[in-house]
Amino acid sequence: MTGFSMGYDLPAAERIGAAIGAALIAGDVVLLAGDLGAGKTTLARAMLKARGLAGEAPSPTFAIVQPYAPPEVDLPIAHVDLYRIEDPDELIELGLDDYLYDGALLIEWPERLGDEGWPGALSLSISGDGDARVLTADVPAAWGARWPLR
Ligand SMILES: Nc1ncnc2c1ncn2[C@@H]1O[C@H](COP(=O)(O)OP(=O)(O)OP(=O)(O)O)[C@@H](O)[C@H]1O
Ligand SMILES: [Mg+2]
Repeated sequence: MTGFSMGYDLPAAERIGAAIGAALIAGDVVLLAGDLGAGKTTLARAMLKARGLAGEAPSPTFAIVQPYAPPEVDLPIAHVDLYRIEDPDELIELGLDDYLYDGALLIEWPERLGDEGWPGALSLSISGDGDARVLTADVPAAWGARWPLR
C-alpha cells in the first residue's frame, strides 16, 4: 500500500479521473470517500468519460447502483452511491461482487460498507472544499504499476 496526496482544482479533477479511468481493469474497486459535495461524483464521471461514456453520468444517489455496459463504455462499470444505505445488510441485495467478474466498481460513500470491503480496493479520499481540495490515495499493491499519478 502506497500513499499519495495532491491538491487539485476542477480541471485537474478531470485529468485525474481520466487517468484513473483509463487504467481500470475488470475486478477493480475504486472507493471515493469525502463529505457531501466533496467531488466524488466529479471524479467518477471523469472515469466513465475516459471509458467512452457520452454525456454526463447522473449521480446515482437515488438509483444507488447505476451500471454501464458496452457499447456505451468499453469496460463494464457500476457507479454506486451508498449514501442512502443505513445498514450493511442492505448491501447484500445490491450484489456488488457480481459486477467484478467482468467489470469495475466505483463506490461513493464507502463508509456505508461497514466491515464489508475489498482488500485490493483503490481508496481515494477528498478533503477540503472550494478551490482548496486535496485528494489522498491509498494505492494497493494490485495497482502499483498501473497507478497513473506522480
Ligand atoms: N477539485 C475541485 N475543485 C473545485 N470544485 C470541485 C472540485 N471537484 C468537484 N468540484 C465541484 O464540487 C461540487 C460537488 O461535486 P460532486 O457532485 O462531485 O460531489 P460529491 O462528493 O459527489 O457530492 P455528494 O456527497 O452529493 O455525492 C460540484 O459543483 C463540482 O463541480
Ligand atoms: Mg456524489
